Amino acid sequence: MANVFNWQLGRDMHYQYGADRPARQVAWVFDTNKCIACQTCTIACKQTWTWGRGQEYMLWNNVETKPYGFFPTGWDVKLLEMLGPASWRDGVYQGETVFEKAPEGERVLGWQPEAEDWSHPNVGEDEPAGETGRGTYVGSIPHDVWFYYLARICNHCTYPACLAACPRNAIYKRPEDGIVLVDQSRCRGYQECVTACPYKKVMFNPVSGTSEKCIACFPKIEQGLQTQCVTSCIGRIRFAGFISPPGEVNESNPIDFLVKVRKVALPLYPQSGTEPNVYYVPPMHAPKPFLRQMFGPGVDEALETYTKAREDRDLLGLMMLMGATPYIIHAFKVEGEVAKGFDASGKELVSVPLREPTFTRKYFDEVRDVYLHNIT
Ligand code: SF4
Ligand code: SF4
Ligand code: SF4
Ligand code: F3S
Repeated sequence: MANVFNWQLGRDMHYQYGADRPARQVAWVFDTNKCIACQTCTIACKQTWTWGRGQEYMLWNNVETKPYGFFPTGWDVKLLEMLGPASWRDGVYQGETVFEKAPEGERVLGWQPEAEDWSHPNVGEDEPAGETGRGTYVGSIPHDVWFYYLARICNHCTYPACLAACPRNAIYKRPEDGIVLVDQSRCRGYQECVTACPYKKVMFNPVSGTSEKCIACFPKIEQGLQTQCVTSCIGRIRFAGFISPPGEVNESNPIDFLVKVRKVALPLYPQSGTEPNVYYVPPMHAPKPFLRQMFGPGVDEALETYTKAREDRDLLGLMMLMGATPYIIHAFKVEGEVAKGFDASGKELVSVPLREPTFTRKYFDEVRDVYLHNIT
């Protein structure tokens, strides 16, 4: 066991191997407020990567309804049961991670889903928390009747539990971009990785006898393109890019800006200790105690900043750039009423207006003598 620094916990922690951060770390931002659970991302990933034998049940990308949706069933309820309620003091996690809580002789605290748990990817869809009935009216924020959609992929963690747990050293983290991959030629199907991943994002293929997982669409990342689940996203809720290491901030980098500068995007269950690299803008309408368990102690500040995004030209401009180009935006800037995105060489990729123009339809067309609005 080594001692490594986990910036999301605000402290050092135990990990199987020493800290070996990649040259740059692939990362994503998902805005939960904009996801409509259309599952286009899920299908885009499935059609690209998991259409083969033994992969029928796999959804490397899935979108579940919180609080009652899961894939596999109950994955995060189990995680919270194992770790207990997360407690934080001044941004420092006070509890134990899945590594620190590992049973004697094990590397990671985990659990193995049953086949049945993978059988209901859309369980709990659109099921709200709270009482609803005829005439239910949802007014103030947060709502007392609520649900939201949580899109999930592998987090390409800085300290992957899957990698730590594999006795064959069949999982590796690429030094050039931090993508976590299973070496299919080394894997012998021990499934310790499946047990260990707190997010249950490694899946066993019973036909090949090996485990498989989201590969971060690495052939696209290598060409400067965003991943399939990002470019197909109807709600334009996603960004793929790179996050700077702890202690470094590049304000013009979209991921850094959202995670480190404005701090509107937060890691999922940071208390796991894996330092996950998919960051979420939390939903504005859900109760904060629920969100603090899921996204950590930054929830209140993130929501406060996000609700004022219309007055924050840089944040607004960046939000408008989400989903505006298939290429990875390495830098952005807002000039006048336009937000621009640039590639790694500084070439302009895309520009979008800060505010889409709006047109107000006239109530009555005198020329044609016809009402243009529904007047019934
Ligand atoms: Fe491994 Fe799970 Fe982290 Fe992905 S989310 S890198 S599968 S521990
Ligand atoms: Fe699938 Fe690529 Fe998205 Fe991973 S990054 S979930 S492989 S589409
Ligand atoms: Fe949500 Fe986008 Fe996926 Fe649709 S494509 S479910 S909006 S993340
Ligand atoms: Fe290792 Fe998981 Fe394969 S534990 S051997 S990568 S199934």
